[in-house]
Amino acid sequence: MSNPDSLKLSAENFDAIDQIVNKYNSDKGAAIMILQQVQATYGYIGQSMLERISQLTGTPTSELFSIVTFYSQFRLEPLGENFIQVCHGTACHLAGAERISEAVQHVTKAKPGHTSPDGKFTLEHVACLGCCSHGPIMTLNNETFARMTPDKVKKMLHQKVADKGFVNSEGCELSE
Ligand code: FES
Repeated sequence: MSNPDSLKLSAENFDAIDQIVNKYNSDKGAAIMILQQVQATYGYIGQSMLERISQLTGTPTSELFSIVTFYSQFRLEPLGENFIQVCHGTACHLAGAERISEAVQHVTKAKPGHTSPDGKFTLEHVACLGCCSHGPIMTLNNETFARMTPDKVKKMLHQKVADKGFVNSEGCELSE
C-alpha cells in the first residue's frame, strides 16, 4: 500500500486540486471548503495534496495540517477495501467495545484510525451509532452488526478475507 506521506500525485491529478482551489480560494473560510472538496474528490488528503494546496493558496502547510488533524471528518490516508467502525460510545463501551476493537485489530492488523498494511481494512472508532441498547455495535462496509463478540468478529472478518460472505447479519434494527 502507498504511504500517503510519500504519495506523489501526477501533474494530471493535481489538476483537480487546482480547479478546486480556483473555485473556492476567494471565499471566506476557503481552506476548510477546499480541503472538504479535495477529500470528496480523492477520498483522503495526503501530504503532497496539502503541499499543493499550500502552494496555490499561500496558506502554510502546517496550518492546513492543523485543520485536517483537528476535524475528524478529514482522512489522512486512503480507505482500505473494507471500512469498519467500532462504536465506543458509553453503552457500547460498557458492553465490551474494547474487546471488539481488539479482535478487529488482531484479525486485520489495522490500528484505530488507520488502514491495515495490506490495504484491506480501515478501522475507525466512533462515538455512537444510535443502536445503544444492542451493543457492542460494529459496522462493516455500512452494514450494522449488533451484540458483537470477539468470536463473531473473528469469524466475520476471516470470512471477509476469504470472500465468503458473512455468518452474522444481525442489524441493530432487529429485536433480541
Ligand atoms: S453507544 Fe454504541 S450505539 Fe450508542
